[in-house]
Amino acid sequence: MSTPGTFCPDMNEKEIKTALREIPLGGFRFYQQIGSTNDTALAWATEGAPDHSLVVADEQLTGRGRAGNTWYTPPGAALALSLILRPSTEERNQVSLFTALGALAVCKALKEYGLPAEIKWPNDVLIQGKKVAGVLVETVWMGIEIESLILGIGLNVLKTAVPTADKLSFEATSLEHALNHPVDRIDLIPVLIRHLIEYRSILGSETFLLEWQQALAFSGHTVLVWGEKQTPTTGKIVGLGSDGRLVLETKQGELVEVHFGEVHLRPANH
Ligand code: BTN
Repeated sequence: MSTPGTFCPDMNEKEIKTALREIPLGGFRFYQQIGSTNDTALAWATEGAPDHSLVVADEQLTGRGRAGNTWYTPPGAALALSLILRPSTEERNQVSLFTALGALAVCKALKEYGLPAEIKWPNDVLIQGKKVAGVLVETVWMGIEIESLILGIGLNVLKTAVPTADKLSFEATSLEHALNHPVDRIDLIPVLIRHLIEYRSILGSETFLLEWQQALAFSGHTVLVWGEKQTPTTGKIVGLGSDGRLVLETKQGELVEVHFGEVHLRPANH
């Protein structure tokens, strides 16, 4: 394994496996170059991949973000991974919380690097108001039941992972920008997976919701939200509902719950 804290730009399967040796994974696949780790994980899940099977890639050629956006993953710069989850009956009723699970795990992992991170509801992780990571959860259905969930995470580790400003709808950053030194991606993987597993075990609990609420970016500030199922609404973020929906207070004092799904959120003064 690489020495913690040293800079190791390359990723190879053997080193990642060594780093993950104490993590109870169902399976592991590493690709130097891939289309999208989520696509590969979706295909592997359909073929019967066990719970907690992990797909990691150094570079993605067709990485996907939410709302049909592309996700930039150049070689040697970012973390792109997808964890396959086989949800329990209880978890099938909490599918909308898995995005937060991913975002919370990223925040907790970044805390270990001394970085205070926040969640721009529902799926973006921010450092000092700039996006450092995104979460994309996708599902495999068997009839009317969700058979598996793919929890995809993209994290800008080195400066070169950040797309140029003309390609961004929201300002972005990297761990290297925030810390002023590079970070070894291989060291980060087990830290992140450990927190994903931890948060899964408390999914939807009071602690889960409390930590999510505490991590909310723009809390107490006025934001604009809009989306597929969401009429554009401006209001102050006052917290989360019991099921994790974002609650806004409009100028008229009305409380509005924001629907899960393809939602966009911007600070009102953006
Ligand atoms: C977003 O912020 O829009 C979500 C970005 C999710 C990107 C990750 S990178 C690993 C996984 N594979 C993909 O194609 N997308 C997710």
